[in-house]
Amino acid sequence: MTKTIRTQVGIIGSGPAGLLLSHLLHQQGIETIILERQSREHVEGRIRAGVLEQGTAWLMREAGVNERLDREGLVHDGVSLAFGGRMERIDFKAHTGKGVIVYGQTEMTRDFIQARLDAGGSIEFEAPALAVEDYRTGSPRIVYQKNGETQELSCDFVAGCDGFHGVARESIPAEQLTLYEKVYPFAWLGILADVPPVNDELIYVNHERGFALCSMRSHTRSRYYIQCSFDDKVENWSDDAFWDELRCRLPPSAVEKLVTGQRLEMSITPLRGFVAEPMSFGKLFLAGDAAHIMPPTGAKGLNLAASDVFYLSRALIAYYAEKRTDLLDRYSETALRRVWGSIRFSLWYTGLLHKFGDDPFNHRLQMADLAYLTSSEAAGTAFAENYVGLPFEKFE
Ligand code: FAD
Ligand code: DHB
Repeated sequence: MTKTIRTQVGIIGSGPAGLLLSHLLHQQGIETIILERQSREHVEGRIRAGVLEQGTAWLMREAGVNERLDREGLVHDGVSLAFGGRMERIDFKAHTGKGVIVYGQTEMTRDFIQARLDAGGSIEFEAPALAVEDYRTGSPRIVYQKNGETQELSCDFVAGCDGFHGVARESIPAEQLTLYEKVYPFAWLGILADVPPVNDELIYVNHERGFALCSMRSHTRSRYYIQCSFDDKVENWSDDAFWDELRCRLPPSAVEKLVTGQRLEMSITPLRGFVAEPMSFGKLFLAGDAAHIMPPTGAKGLNLAASDVFYLSRALIAYYAEKRTDLLDRYSETALRRVWGSIRFSLWYTGLLHKFGDDPFNHRLQMADLAYLTSSEAAGTAFAENYVGLPFEKFE
């Protein structure tokens, strides 16, 4: 016999999108259950994004999960761009009045899992969803597995927050989806190490050997990336080989300050742009990486997951408080406007900084673009406005 449990909003995935949605709904008295394929340890151990836009931090505050963020998050008011033997800073604060906050996705996930559990919330770990059914009708169901048994979660709505490889999007007939995709012929090799960062702020590097990025998680933990081939493997890289290649790409002032150390983690991230439209199908809504991913340059993936949840949470709250369905109807088109705005920036920024073969024409164009970006007030403002995050649209 299949066991069936019930909730108001069934959420697939305990990444940032699912956790934030669950907690925002809980605060309005809306009940959710999260189904997560992996164990809690696995989810809390994944190293991913590290830069929060102010809108994301604001949502965390609205959810009341901001104590550690406010204590440990590092506010950055600008970034540096290194190219052609120069290093220039773009001051976000001067251009937009805003900054960004360096706070690891890993920490955000840990904070939200704890907050959900402290509030009596339900997260079923090691419970992979297999399919979403009947989402066009009155009572959608998520079929999932727990302890080797097939079970069902019956709900009013399903939120597919299960990332790029999840099942929510796969439960939709292919002919009802329009997919847009751009795959890059390179990837990022990232290292995490307990060494002080090379600079107070991030440095994005365009170098003839390829892109590099100096980032951090705290004053004592650094995160560095270098562009590598799309088919490269972590096993091909020793710590020393990574640091040597990074040194080749950094400006001399940064090399002088570089402190190296043993890896805590090393991973390869492929670069891809992907959007699935629309983001809603009857009572099934996609949010975050389940609907779109972008190349990591500019750190938009996590922030876009948060902005989807901003719109989706408001739509669901309006439904439960006032039986309104107009916001649910507008969710997909509204979220997608911001998705395409962020994709546009991420792809442009990726194109500006990476090595695309040996085409000297392209390289000269990149240098001209970088020179313009770092000398024009208008170009600097446009960059800063996008980097700190496009505003959320009014949605009420
Ligand atoms: P996810 O964080 O992917 O969460 C989805 C959750 O659903 C996962 O916990 C998964 O286990 C679960 N799940 C999947 N399938 C099922 C199922 N069938 N049943 C139940 N649960 C399921 N962004 C940046 O901005 N900067 C970066 O440096 C950066 N680095 C990244 C590195 C990697 C390796 C990856 C994969 C992504 C990276 N991103 C980065 C992107 C950013 O981390 C994502 O945009 C963000 O995690 C999106 O959050 P999400 O909640 O939508 O999806
Ligand atoms: C990080 C990742 C990014 O993609 C980025 O643009 C900036 C920082 C990071 O992981 O720290």
